[in-house]
Amino acid sequence: MLTSGGDAPGMNAAIRAVVRCAVAYNLEVIGFKHGFTGLIGGEYRVLGARDVGGVIHQGGTMLGTTRCQTLMSERGRELALRALSDLNVSALVVIGGNGSQTGSWELSQRGAPVIGIASTIDNDLNGTDLSLGVTTAVDVALEAIDRLRVTASAMNRAFLVEVMGRNCGYIAMMAGIAGGAELILVPEACADPGVVADELRAVFVRGKSHAIAVVAEGAAYNADVLMHYFKEHDQRLGFDLRVTKLGHVQRGGKPGVMDRMLGTMFGSAAIDAVIANRLGVLIGLRDGKTAWTPLGEVAGKARPADARILKLAQVLAL
Ligand code: F6P
Repeated sequence: MLTSGGDAPGMNAAIRAVVRCAVAYNLEVIGFKHGFTGLIGGEYRVLGARDVGGVIHQGGTMLGTTRCQTLMSERGRELALRALSDLNVSALVVIGGNGSQTGSWELSQRGAPVIGIASTIDNDLNGTDLSLGVTTAVDVALEAIDRLRVTASAMNRAFLVEVMGRNCGYIAMMAGIAGGAELILVPEACADPGVVADELRAVFVRGKSHAIAVVAEGAAYNADVLMHYFKEHDQRLGFDLRVTKLGHVQRGGKPGVMDRMLGTMFGSAAIDAVIANRLGVLIGLRDGKTAWTPLGEVAGKARPADARILKLAQVLAL
């Protein structure tokens, strides 16, 4: 087993479930350190039931993780395959997001017995409605928005909050709607800076004491671009925009109940897949149940957020 790419709250719950469900079937588990880097470099430890005690409530990953560049080359993939065969690995569980599951697929195409577990705060993986880490990351963003609204209201200010998500607007939409934001800007539906300024001004004209805009980092006009625009035009616009970029703070959260449960369900389903010899699949969640999707349908494709809900967000911001 390994964790790969950006860490996500709930990875430890998944590690714990993989180990304990495997032990229940008398399977031996080894955990590679630092993702695929540890697989290629032979850095691993045997994991027993007691080794995964006291981790379910912790964010991050007890195994460590990297974005492994070596795996992107043919030579790197050969080294990974050799390591798996030297260690006589009968199944490799890869807990990670888009880039990691593309790596899983590349290895599985070359005969490696890989099973993926959907894990990324971005929620942009095909094959799952929800990935591990998403709900905790949204909660962290939401708490920040709630706090910013308090100070914005006290001082009649406009705030821009940038959230993560790479090229996907899921975190921005969920945190924005749940946080009562006046404006939500995502890669899937963008507005240019002039429109953003008009809409924020209109919020105060409607009598509100604050205006909160949530922007996804991958939006065409993200926080940096909008900040630059507002500075350049501050005389004409007549109001300041305070900007907060939440960044990695969203990844470091203590996993909430949903991520602990998802990690547990996904880890247990991964061992079910090992027992059933269903290899080359991604474990995810569909219609409330764990589901197996062939890695070929997941690799190299990002799932955009469904931006239709933004129409409702506009109504709610009146
Ligand atoms: O994929 C998860 C994520 O946190 C993205 O939201 C973000 O764009 C990226 O990782 C940041 O990557 P890094 O941690 O390598 O800076």
